[in-house]
Amino acid sequence: MDVKVLDISFFNDTEPSGKIKECFEQEDVILIRGLDLDENRFEALTRIFCDDFCRISSRESLRKREGDGLTTHTPRENFFLFSHSEAAYAPYPKTPDIGFLMCKEAPIVPGGETTLVDGVEFLNEMAHELRKRFKNEKIIYEFLWEPDRWKAQFRVSSEEELFALLNTLNTIKFSLNNGLLHMFYTTSALTRMADGSYAFSNAILAHLPSLDHPDYKNKKVYCKESNKVYWESGELLPKEIVNQLVTIQDKLKYKHQWKVNDILIFNNLRYMHGREMTQGVSNRELFSRFGYVL
Ligand SMILES: [Fe+2]
Repeated sequence: MDVKVLDISFFNDTEPSGKIKECFEQEDVILIRGLDLDENRFEALTRIFCDDFCRISSRESLRKREGDGLTTHTPRENFFLFSHSEAAYAPYPKTPDIGFLMCKEAPIVPGGETTLVDGVEFLNEMAHELRKRFKNEKIIYEFLWEPDRWKAQFRVSSEEELFALLNTLNTIKFSLNNGLLHMFYTTSALTRMADGSYAFSNAILAHLPSLDHPDYKNKKVYCKESNKVYWESGELLPKEIVNQLVTIQDKLKYKHQWKVNDILIFNNLRYMHGREMTQGVSNRELFSRFGYVL
């Protein structure tokens, strides 16, 4: 895949927001260069597209104080994070439409790229039988969350509020024990695009308990033991299928090598993003926001 680069320094007008929006609507993923924004102006840029933003509950400790408090750092640990649509594992609120990433410190060693995979290409690349299965069968995400996580994700402050919200959702099964929320969320791994085509866009590969793929032996890949993904029938997504998905991801992924002040904007319902490990020790500072289209 190609990413359209929009270099604002070539623009004559002082107000490039119209051009940025128009370009994104045509491309679904763009890279903006030539701006040098602080957190508040970054937030203002994202408000050209969105009037509501997602609170990323896995990043509570990484939230920035500035502005609306919904800009976060990305995690500072060094690992591979496989392709995912942000927050697609959660039944509520809905999956955000657009992702925004801005680089304030680029890695000085190889690696550390943000990856993007086009979910439409991903689906086309799959073996026919597997594609058919994802079209016909939903998946289930299982997770186990501490109170801080569910309070942030569902924007509630008590177990009573949590129950009141979750009881309105018919896509989940859940239990609450000693404050721990154990949930099973059934949903499609595919998203229908405006033109009727389907994208493989979900959080499967970033929601694995472990990984055993020959290309990632001795590499650190983000996994969490209490996360699992099943077919709708209840069968755990087998290693063979997980590994097919990883191989397709690696064949298709675009690796964005960050330069300071780069801003990447992508359709979160079509493109799955992730990150590569840096090969060596390096700082890497990215700000991120995810929002809902006006
Ligand atoms: Fe993410």
